[in-house]
Amino acid sequence: MEKIELKTSATLFNNVSELAQEDKLLMDKAIEARAKAYAPYSKFSVGAAFLLENGVIILGNNQENAAYPSGMCAERVGVWKVGSEFPGVKIKKLAITAASENLTVDKPVGPCGACRQTLSEYEINQKEPIEILFMGEIGKVVKTTSLLSLLPFSFDSSYL
Ligand code: THU
Repeated sequence: MEKIELKTSATLFNNVSELAQEDKLLMDKAIEARAKAYAPYSKFSVGAAFLLENGVIILGNNQENAAYPSGMCAERVGVWKVGSEFPGVKIKKLAITAASENLTVDKPVGPCGACRQTLSEYEINQKEPIEILFMGEIGKVVKTTSLLSLLPFSFDSSYL
């Protein structure tokens, strides 16, 4: 038997103003996307902005549904727009932000497990890491250097 340690690292910024210009602009786009979310049930709006290698920025936000499980997260709405409109174009960075009508979201909101799995497919295929930045509505911002650093022991096509 052998015990292995899983390590991951991230950079924590105190607020958006500490981010580099490109990251700050991308987070501004995520905020823009968040404002257009359709979240009448949870009142929890999420925005995602993807910066592609060709400079294009693609936005996504959560789209809820009266039949709750039929709704979709911002990150998957966004990455499927990327996959369908720009197949083969690499994703450099993804910025995520969330806000609620019920409380002030002051903690960084990372992508849910299903979104991490979905995003991992794109990172693996493009053979280059996707930087992920995430925050709430205010406060600290987390930056990771890759998606897979958020998803140890992930499932991929090598198992099939
Ligand atoms: N949501 C996202 O859009 N992304 C996540 O990573 C977590 C959750 C959405 C789904 C739902 O519309 C609302 O936030 C509350 O769960």
